[in-house]
Amino acid sequence: MKIVVTAGPTREHLDPVRFLSNPSSGKMGFAVAAEAARRGHDVTLVAGPVALKTPKGVKRVDVVSAREMFAAVKAVKAEMLISVAAVADWRPAKSSAKKMKKGEMDGTLRLVRNPDILKGVKGLRKIGFAAETGEPTAEAMRKCRAKGAEFIVANDVAAKGAGFGKDTNLVSFVFSSGEVKRFPLMTKRMVAKRILDEVK
Ligand code: PMT
Repeated sequence: MKIVVTAGPTREHLDPVRFLSNPSSGKMGFAVAAEAARRGHDVTLVAGPVALKTPKGVKRVDVVSAREMFAAVKAVKAEMLISVAAVADWRPAKSSAKKMKKGEMDGTLRLVRNPDILKGVKGLRKIGFAAETGEPTAEAMRKCRAKGAEFIVANDVAAKGAGFGKDTNLVSFVFSSGEVKRFPLMTKRMVAKRILDEVK
């Protein structure tokens, strides 16, 4: 199957030296891309700014912002999107091509919404992630239905050893049907295997 995987953070620049972002390392998304390629899928990895090597057999497209990520995902014309990226929901309303001087800023930052990539792409199978704190399944179910995903990997990022930058994740799969599959703390590689087991 032709699969596009998104990974890492996006950066939303105010100017060449300042941006809004988050601590995603790309480890989870790269593990998914690696496992999908190992199983013989045709994999394109659309990666935000991360310091990771491209997994064997994977095509990689590097992007910076959410809008670039959206364009790159649409360009692949895949049969499935696995959306692991921590996409910035907002970007600065204005950005400058030149470094802004402190005196040009007045302490307020106006933001505008970024496109929702997972929700916005149509005509392909979709699997999403949701990084939540506390009991993540209710919010994951809401996102699953709102974004038209087959299932959401609900990720308890408040759990010890789990989430951004770590090597392990505590996840449950929340299906659009209402079914929930819970897993113990696993390496991101094992999480990737469990996800690909669901991809028939
Ligand atoms: O990269 P690591 O350090 O390994 O960390 C992995 C991770 C914590 C980033 C990853 O496992 C994870 O949970 N990613 C989802 C982060 C998140 O909180 O997503 P969300 O709840 O904002 O969005 C829900 C889903 O919609 C996600 O599949 C997301 O990729 C997608 N989305 C969100 C916003 C947006 N504008 N476009 C999107 O496609």
